Parts: sequence; C-alpha cells; structure tokens
Amino acid sequence: MKIVKMRKEHTGPLAELERQCFAHPWSQKALEAEVDNPAACFFTALGEEGQVLGYGGMHSACGEFYMDNLAVFGCCRGKGVGTALVSALWEEAQRQKGEFLSLEVRPSNRQALGLYRRLGFLEEGRRKNFYRDPLEDALILTKREIPLDGPGACLKYAEGKAENHAPVGN
Ligand SMILES: CC(C)(COP(=O)(O)OP(=O)(O)OC[C@H]1O[C@@H](n2cnc3c(N)ncnc32)[C@H](O)[C@@H]1OP(=O)(O)O)[C@@H](O)C(=O)NCCC(=O)NCCS
Repeated sequence: MKIVKMRKEHTGPLAELERQCFAHPWSQKALEAEVDNPAACFFTALGEEGQVLGYGGMHSACGEFYMDNLAVFGCCRGKGVGTALVSALWEEAQRQKGEFLSLEVRPSNRQALGLYRRLGFLEEGRRKNFYRDPLEDALILTKREIPLDGPGACLKYAEGKAENHAPVGN
C-alpha cells in the first residue's frame, strides 16, 4: 500500500466510496475541486496494483487543520489503511507547522473513534444534533503536538488543556 496526493483520476472511485459510506456523500465534482485547492490536502491510499483503497482529506486556515473526510472501502478495512491515511495527514499538518488537527465523528462510530483515540486524538467537545440521517451529536476530537521542551512538559500541556477547554458535553 502507498499513500499519494489525491489525483483527478482517483475521484471516480472515491465518489463511489463516499456513496457507500455516507448519507450525504461528496460528489465527484466536489472531490475534484480539492485536487488543486491550496488550502486543502487530500491523500489517496493505493493498493499493490494501483487500485484505490481509501482516502482522507483536510483543510487549513490560520495554522489550524480540520479533517473533513476519511473512508476506506469495506473490503480493505482492518489492515491499517485508515491509520496510514490519518498519520499522513497529521505529518503534513506538522510539516506546515499546524497547531492542531481537529475533526468531528459520530459517537456511535466505534471503528473511527478507536482509530482516532489510538492515534492520540482527545475529545474536546460535542456539537448537539450535528449529523442528519440519522440524527446524532458529533464529538469533536483534536490532536495537538505535545511540546518536548523539558521535564514536566506533558503535565503543563495537560494543565493548559484543562484551563483552556470547556468540559466535554457542554
Ligand atoms: C473508520 C475507517 C476509515 C477505518 O479504516 P481502516 O482502514 O479499517 O482502519 P485501520 O485498519 O487503520 O484500523 C481499524 C482497526 O483495524 C486494526 N488493524 C490495523 N491494522 C491491522 C492489521 N494489519 N491486521 C488486523 N487489524 C488491523 C486496528 O487495530 C484498528 O482497530 P482499533 O481502532 O480498534 O485499534 C473505516 O472503518 C471506514 O471507512 N468507515 C466508514 C467511513 C467512516 O466512518 N469514516 C470516518 C468518519 S469520521
């Protein structure tokens, strides 16, 4: 498997993947618009024969990164494709000196939640009735760079988080 920048020729299979996964899928046209969007970064996972396995994408503004999309074809799940895509997005956000990478996820989406938590995303809030079909809240998960500047840095990071963020659920 390899992770590459999303290209126009990937957008047909990816639009099909969107239809398989989501009640309100992104169209091929919407995906094509992201290929040359300077504020966007979309990666495609390709199999050994160049087949499209899945994709993930994010947008940035003022040093903040927001992940819009992540999906892997059903036949290819549980093999690390999703992990590789999110890791690539996080590395790119870091390369661009991003402060954090944030996303929304349904609380019922155990697979996605497990993956994000394993990769160090923390729950920082909840949007009430955010999703439709079916109606559900969204959890806001965020991954931040933990400063490695000496003893106690992790503790300071945790204390800063506690001061700066409202309790989950508010
Ligand atoms: C969420 C989603 C992208 C995950 O993709 P994936 O390719 O299955 O993700 P991974 O394989 O990296 O990880 C999934 C699980 O497989 C396990 N896994 C990873 N590599 C593995 C391997 N080689 N062998 C067996 N299991 C493996 C991981 O441990 C992980 O389990 P955990 O999260 O409980 O720890 C996929 O389920 C999907 O497309 N869902 C529908 C769309 C969706 O919900 N998108 C997210 C919107 S927020």
